[in-house]
Amino acid sequence: MKKTNIVLVGFMGAGKSVASEILATQLGLEHVSTDAVIVEREGRSINQIFEQDGEEYFRNIETLIVRELSQRQRLVIDCGGGVVLRPENVAALKRQGLMIYLKTSPDVIYDRIKHETHRPLLKVEDPLDKIQGLLAARASFYAQADQEILTDGKTADEVAQEIVGLLK
Ligand code: S3P
Repeated sequence: MKKTNIVLVGFMGAGKSVASEILATQLGLEHVSTDAVIVEREGRSINQIFEQDGEEYFRNIETLIVRELSQRQRLVIDCGGGVVLRPENVAALKRQGLMIYLKTSPDVIYDRIKHETHRPLLKVEDPLDKIQGLLAARASFYAQADQEILTDGKTADEVAQEIVGLLK
């Protein structure tokens, strides 16, 4: 079966959400965010899920949602930054979709997220150090994507247009 989904992966603050909304509108596809589905399903925030039940619990729901979304078609899927950590998530998403990694450097990520509070993994004393560590640890996971786009210095619209270019 032809792949009809576009799957955006990348670190927190890479700009996946806005780029995926633009893409979905432009291509006439439905936009879905794994985080938004999790929050809706659980009736609580990501912070609350991590605080009350821990990361493993969150990852289990994430895998469930990924499995569900991967069975649907004509979606732009905005994936939480850690979706790539489980091989089964990557396999399911790639079966039905083109996976694109939005690659962003640590300094740019830090600049984008420094005033935000909704990401439990970055609620630490030294977020830049944490970003650098997590990015290094995840590099090989993000490398599983079919395509890679550098987002440093680009607007969400420019990123979305680059993705459209890849589809031609
Ligand atoms: C996470 C990224 C977040 C969210 C959760 C964990 C991660 O999504 O799923 O806080 O492990 O990188 P965004 O990438 O949309 O911020």
